[in-house]
Amino acid sequence: MKENESNEFFVIKAKENGVNVIGLTRGNETRFHHSEKLDKGEVMLAQFTEHTSAVKVRGKAVIYTRHGEVDTEG
Ligand code: TRP
Repeated sequence: MKENESNEFFVIKAKENGVNVIGLTRGNETRFHHSEKLDKGEVMLAQFTEHTSAVKVRGKAVIYTRHGEVDTEG
């Protein structure tokens, strides 16, 4: 398994339509590389990878991680 890769994943559950889950690149340049739109009730499971070091969630959602859960105030 490469550095920054594990089986660990997190869950994002949209609480409204049009929630955006945005992946930001790993490395020197931090930029958006993927935007996924979720509608109310939709769930996305994702990981941090070789390509993704940060995730931004825009809109009303709950994010579940091994460290606990947090909700946006979108
Ligand atoms: N191709 C991306 C990657 O392997 C897919 C991805 C993983 C992603 N985790 C993400 C996209 C989190 C958005 C948010 O890194």
